[in-house]
Amino acid sequence: MTQPPYAGTRPPKLGDDSPGFLDGIAKGWGDRTVPAPVAPAAARAAAAHRARLSAALPDRVLVIGAGRAARRNGDADYGFRAGSDFVWATSCQAEGGVLVMHPKPGGHDAVLHLPAPARPGERDFFASAAHGELWIGPSAGLDAWSDALGLPVRPIADFTVPDGALVAGEAADLDRALSGLRMIKDEWEIGQLREAIDHTVTGFAAVAAEVPRAVRDDLGERWLQGTFDRHARTYGNGPGYSTIVGSGEHAPILHWVRCDGPVRPGETLLLDMGVEARSLYTADVTRTIPVGGTFTPAQRRVHDLVEASHRAGLAAVRPGALYSDFHFAAMEVLARGLHDWGLLPVSVDEALAPAGQHHRRYIVCGIGHHLGLDVHDCAASPYEQYLGAALAPGMVLTVEPGLYFHAHDETVPPELRGIGVRIEDDLLVTDTGHDVLSGALPIDATGLEQWAATHA
Ligand code: GLY
Ligand code: MN
Ligand code: MN
Repeated sequence: MTQPPYAGTRPPKLGDDSPGFLDGIAKGWGDRTVPAPVAPAAARAAAAHRARLSAALPDRVLVIGAGRAARRNGDADYGFRAGSDFVWATSCQAEGGVLVMHPKPGGHDAVLHLPAPARPGERDFFASAAHGELWIGPSAGLDAWSDALGLPVRPIADFTVPDGALVAGEAADLDRALSGLRMIKDEWEIGQLREAIDHTVTGFAAVAAEVPRAVRDDLGERWLQGTFDRHARTYGNGPGYSTIVGSGEHAPILHWVRCDGPVRPGETLLLDMGVEARSLYTADVTRTIPVGGTFTPAQRRVHDLVEASHRAGLAAVRPGALYSDFHFAAMEVLARGLHDWGLLPVSVDEALAPAGQHHRRYIVCGIGHHLGLDVHDCAASPYEQYLGAALAPGMVLTVEPGLYFHAHDETVPPELRGIGVRIEDDLLVTDTGHDVLSGALPIDATGLEQWAATHA
């Protein structure tokens, strides 16, 4: 029997046993270079960040890696997102990059190691699914990165961990220094956060516009989550954290990221959503809106108390105040309100005392956090650098009180069960007080009803 011409080939494998392929694919490619994907202002900001890091840790060998994409399943990875310390120090988002800073008198010499793109003429051009340009598209070369960043850039193959290096993730001193330095945002970073927050505000409007359809066509929370995530991908890098869309009895569930429930008229709909800008700075904003357009009296009562708590929290944010002040100011209002409603088994003072905290049954999370490249930014800071520290101009943080009455909470009257309300704003601490960067969204119940109606 005559053999077909492909007899003896193993279809997925192209290589040494196919000289026709090897000879052919090595030739005939035009020159195609692309610039490094980094804006000059971002590179300048990163250079200033490195100077601050150098001054904070003189005489230390510093190594900060971008990381690698995590495995999702089988041989499929999650989309890569560079580590925040690396981005802060380089403005580069390349997978597998490593920044090395060697001490010298008066500072450090920095060098960036990056995977070199595999170009025509190299076997990996066609043979590496991870690095070959034929597989992943054209990528900036090391020279282009060097020009854009103003840094020497060398192949990752040349990288070895230097003696005495503080390696990110393993070195508490480096983590702590980076966490403290990243707490004060410069003008460029504030601009990026403003952009992320502005796109988040329009994302809220995009979601509000889809609520009637989510109800009418029984598309539920999934549709609203997808609406925001598409908006975030279109106007930024994507959502800065898992989008939370909680309707009805899901609203009180703090990390309701399953977003697979229905959306029904009469329910509160809690939306906690943030656009991550292409520079990777993220917003983190929450509003709670009534699905039918109008809060019920019980929902409004809860919202009014959370609004009062929120206003007390906002009023405590100014330079020189302790970070913990806004937390306690907001908590005190919640405790008083819950006490007035007969939900606390003790006095307000007893509840607020360290050994009490009875009100925390209805708000087990904190009232806010620093915000930046990470949604919970600067989390490697020790107590005295974060929770126990004073606020200073340039800090960006969230204020986000809420009340969470779970559907199966037998300590609250039936009309409160299944109501969850959070108001979360992003604030910049200024020289004289603060700016509410997400202030384009109303925080009062009537304002939110009107806002939702305008966009529905
Ligand atoms: N969405 C996370 C947070 O509010 O902290
Ligand atoms: Mn938050
Ligand atoms: Mn949030």
